[in-house]
Amino acid sequence: MSSAPTLSIDPAAFHADPYPILAEMRAGAPVCFVPELGATLFTRRDDVFVQEKRIDLFSSHQPDGLLTRVMGANMMRKDGDAHMFERKALFPALSPRTVRDVLAPQFRDIVQGHIDRLKPQGQCDLVTDYAMPVAADALRVMTGLTNMDAADMDAASQAMLDAAANYQRDPEVDAKGYGYAARVQTLIEERLPELRAAPDLSIISVLDQAGLSVDAIAGNVRVIIGGGQNEPRDAIAGTVWALLTHPDQRALIAAGQATWEDAFAEYVRLVAPIGMSPRRVAKAGEACGVDFEEDELIFFMFGSACRDSAHFADPDRFDLTRDTGPAIPFGAGPHFCAGAAASRTLIAGYALPMLFDQLAGLTLDGPVPFAGWAFRGPTTCPVRWTS
Ligand code: HEM
Repeated sequence: MSSAPTLSIDPAAFHADPYPILAEMRAGAPVCFVPELGATLFTRRDDVFVQEKRIDLFSSHQPDGLLTRVMGANMMRKDGDAHMFERKALFPALSPRTVRDVLAPQFRDIVQGHIDRLKPQGQCDLVTDYAMPVAADALRVMTGLTNMDAADMDAASQAMLDAAANYQRDPEVDAKGYGYAARVQTLIEERLPELRAAPDLSIISVLDQAGLSVDAIAGNVRVIIGGGQNEPRDAIAGTVWALLTHPDQRALIAAGQATWEDAFAEYVRLVAPIGMSPRRVAKAGEACGVDFEEDELIFFMFGSACRDSAHFADPDRFDLTRDTGPAIPFGAGPHFCAGAAASRTLIAGYALPMLFDQLAGLTLDGPVPFAGWAFRGPTTCPVRWTS
């Protein structure tokens, strides 16, 4: 066990609202061992920013971890050259140029299609009726899994993530997660002959063109479905909630004093959709004055780092005028989110502005509960509009 001070938490309270507990940790025990999570947490922004780059000590390679078992070997759980090879192979599918020239026009059409479908209804749950299908359709385009529909994509993402967090080994959760993992591979194998005949810039195609095996493609596509579905969903619905509950901030956009990019960046700072990224201690060593033993588990707490008052004045406030530069909701090391540019374009370029422009009188229609600390977002977001 690490030499960090031990700090016990109430897991239910942490799940409901981790921020007061994380603030206490940052102030009093910024690197602390939490027995209920079986891990040592790094909670300050500068510690996460520096230590995440020490891959010799804090490794992503976790071959026995649940995520690797469910999803298969993938770039997120590799280090060094093995990681870089797959990361470089993925680049053409999500590069700024591909986002601008290939993905952006498709994102715009996807968003328009969902707004046209919803507009006559006058009300909806923004999480399940808008943010979820927008994120899923964008992911179908990015991955090349056009033989999957939006609901299936969402179900696959949730089932595989649930199995990857199934520390209680519930057999039903495992059966569902591993079932969807197998289905994803079948769907990739179904698409490969077409993509080999006509290669494109989809994730499946670029990984295949770089020579990855079908198993390696499947491992990476599964992890991208896991991370690329819920996070844009949570960021879309969450940013809408933040703007509807802070009309003064929304007015800044209307007045041209802030942008949709500012709103997206400030929301993911305030409520990081991925609050934590785990690492395994690769060898005994020291960091931030704490001694670590080989094979311990540590968590880099992005959600906490993004509310560190050393960088953000009044960090619990939603403020579009602040400098979000030091925020790290997409990570701060070699595993920095490969989908960050695509997400920004989908959400700040289309999903937010088109929704507010086209649904007049958009307003909240009920409470918006939030849940989670490793993954966090609104569980429902009822809204209505006038025309
Ligand atoms: C708002 C949306 C998103 C957020 C907040 C987010 C956040 C993150 C975070 C925190 C990490 C881990 C970084 C680390 O450990 O240092 C990550 C990794 C990753 N993300 Fe995202 N993500 C989002 C959307 C997406 C999308 C849409 C895709 C792909 C289509 C994607 C692909 C990836 C990949 C491939 C990795 C692993 C990169 C590597 O291991 O080198 N993400 N993301």
